[in-house]
Amino acid sequence: MPTAAGRCLYRSNPGTPREIRLIEGDGIRGLAEGPAGRIDVVVTSPPYNLGQPYRLYRDRRPRDDYLRWIGTLGPAVRHALRPDGSFFLNLGGPPTDPWLPFDVARAVSDGWVLQNVIHWIKSIALDRSATGLDRDLALGHYRPIGSARYLHGTQEYLFQFTRTGKVPLDRLAIGVPYAHPSNRRRWKRSPVDRRCRGNSWFLPYPTIQRRATERPHPATFPETLPEWCYRLHGLARVRTAADPFVGLGASAVAAARLGLGFQGWDIDPEYLAFAARRLGRLRPATAPGPTAPVPRGAGAARPARAASRS
Ligand SMILES: C[S@@+](CC[C@H](N)C(=O)[O-])C[C@H]1O[C@@H](n2cnc3c(N)ncnc32)[C@H](O)[C@@H]1O
Repeated sequence: MPTAAGRCLYRSNPGTPREIRLIEGDGIRGLAEGPAGRIDVVVTSPPYNLGQPYRLYRDRRPRDDYLRWIGTLGPAVRHALRPDGSFFLNLGGPPTDPWLPFDVARAVSDGWVLQNVIHWIKSIALDRSATGLDRDLALGHYRPIGSARYLHGTQEYLFQFTRTGKVPLDRLAIGVPYAHPSNRRRWKRSPVDRRCRGNSWFLPYPTIQRRATERPHPATFPETLPEWCYRLHGLARVRTAADPFVGLGASAVAAARLGLGFQGWDIDPEYLAFAARRLGRLRPATAPGPTAPVPRGAGAARPARAASRS
């Protein structure tokens, strides 16, 4: 159904708290034009203006134009989000332009408090001397760059913006066990064998064999990233999540698995069709219920070139 903010291509569980909607259209307008305060958590990754080979979106324009445009995301999310909501903004930049994520975060940040900066680690090398294991470990995937000056980029940022900087978090929902029982005794406040995992999150991409069919998009994040954001905000306080740049639907799939409501936008119907198929494949226990058909002709996107994010 077309509206000013887009055309709904996928809908499940209509009218229930677990309603999932994928909308072809401008996500910033979609957030700005709907009712105020209807969303609890936004987890999103916008285009970074790096010239990524998206199917429809042209990812290269003068820096000032781009920053002006992405700056409109801040007020749009602020309008749609509840006063105690969380806005998780995933940003990265190439080794050749390390200020980019900070410039974008600044452009978006008016009216927000930066509550946490999380480092999304995509790949890490652990020396045996540091782990006590009998071998060195190299984990995860990254895009290698041939350079005598720059290191491979193996991380991105996740900026958590809130209105007040005082939004309580469910840190133990994504916590880790104490390394040793004595640590738990020392930290008497801890009633369970779990501690906050901190702000470095190792979230490798799942290994794929054929990008063209398994991940036909140049810049995705893994499902676990939005899932941890929803859990960290506190599932008891999340009814509806949203992503104005939903791409292949990782944030939608994570929401569906957790039984949350969700609204997602993308300008590209083929990416949305892929996201809809992912949602359709969820096991019955987590599947989001009866689905509306996806329009014909919305198949897998063309193969994407290697890119910095995946
Ligand atoms: C970095 S990707 C998001 C990928 C997503 N997080 C995933 O895991 O698949 C950015 C997406 O924004 C979409 N896009 C660009 N401009 C848009 C706009 N104005 N409104 C909605 N989507 C837009 C692009 O088509 C692209 O899929």
